Amino acid sequence: MNRRIGVAVLGLGWMGQAHSRSMLRIPSLFPNRSFDPVLVVCADTEEERRERAVRDFGFERAVADWHEAINSDDVDVVWVTAPNMLHVPMIEAACAAGKAVFSEKPIGGKPEQTVEAFELAAKAGVRTGVGYNYLWAPLVLHAKHLIDSGALGEITHYRGRFLSMYGSDELGLLTWRFILDQAGYGVTSDILSHSVSLAQFLIGDITSVVGMQNTTIPKRPLPTGAASHYGRGRPEDPKGDVENEDFASMLCHFENGATGTFEVSRTMVGPESQNAFEIYGTKGSLAWNLETMNELQYYKLTEDPSSGYTTIYGGDRFPFHGAFSPGQANPIALEDLITIEDFSFLEAVATDAPFSPSFREAVDVVNVQQALINSWGSKSWENVTDLTGGSNGK
Ligand SMILES: NC(=O)c1ccc[n+]([C@@H]2O[C@H](COP(=O)([O-])OP(=O)(O)OC[C@H]3O[C@@H](n4cnc5c(N)ncnc54)[C@H](O)[C@@H]3O)[C@@H](O)[C@H]2O)c1
Repeated sequence: MNRRIGVAVLGLGWMGQAHSRSMLRIPSLFPNRSFDPVLVVCADTEEERRERAVRDFGFERAVADWHEAINSDDVDVVWVTAPNMLHVPMIEAACAAGKAVFSEKPIGGKPEQTVEAFELAAKAGVRTGVGYNYLWAPLVLHAKHLIDSGALGEITHYRGRFLSMYGSDELGLLTWRFILDQAGYGVTSDILSHSVSLAQFLIGDITSVVGMQNTTIPKRPLPTGAASHYGRGRPEDPKGDVENEDFASMLCHFENGATGTFEVSRTMVGPESQNAFEIYGTKGSLAWNLETMNELQYYKLTEDPSSGYTTIYGGDRFPFHGAFSPGQANPIALEDLITIEDFSFLEAVATDAPFSPSFREAVDVVNVQQALINSWGSKSWENVTDLTGGSNGK
């Protein structure tokens, strides 16, 4: 018999809704599962979102105070989907209540907060997961398979970027993402974290970095009420200061000897959501881009002088894809990745199996972020060190 897993979702904005919808879809998409998710309670400070939680998502109840949601007896797993600076207090309370916890990335807004969350969970012995959803893309998993099987030979260079236009409009609202005490750092917390998590998953640890950062749109219209990620103000609206970085770039060395370059921006005009990587090896290379997430470019070195990149389309021959679309080249979408990660996390909870990415992998990401931040001050190369002091034996 499937195990009943009661779920609490803290924050019903973009990600809270995406995870809640995923939970609703899991039974029909994954009939061979070991659990049945039950949307027990949702917490949000916005009344309208609480009403939607019950009316449209079928939560049994919705509360304004997130503590109440965590401490409900019928909740087994807590989803942390609120702005960054609420992550650690929410995780602390979930750990105190002995609940498994899945947190959206980056976990807190500053490296020391991610470490704090990791240590709280390790001490409480609760199971953890983190929302690096792109690691679950079927073609990213296939890229990992090709790399691990040696198809690319020795990896020599990794090029990662996340160039998004979500902040490119100077009338885009000053939402929590731009405020230090709500988001922490800017693009390095928000989207470099995705790029680094992909790189570490695909080719391994980063050992040293040097980089730069910049804020290109220093003021934005102040929001009134609950502002959406893509909300827009008017030219005459009062403005406030952007308090964290819009752009960052990084050169790095990987433990396996490869070099790397990373660029992330939320204000460039043109690339709309270019979360992308290129991986170069001695026998071939790969390229993937979220904007065309159902395509993987593969170059295989051969004697044939007319060879070049080939396009591998997504399809049910790759992991998880067939749950959503049968056959070949019938595409899947962004929220499907969130459904895959939620299914995988709950399956691990139900069967007591290991799960990755966990808070440990989230720390691996901020270890790199901290070295990058250090290099902004020192203007020189910085070694990546384990901010937990190696408490996991790393
Ligand atoms: N994995 C991804 O690809 C991805 C994408 C977007 C966001 N995120 C992460 O998800 C988290 C949330 O981002 P978002 O875009 O969904 O934000 P959002 O602004 O759309 O939603 C946040 C929600 O939290 C609610 N909230 C604020 N204070 C609260 C409180 N005290 N108690 C309860 N609810 C409260 C807000 O009312 C809102 O509904 C962030 O940590 C972000 O980094 C991850």
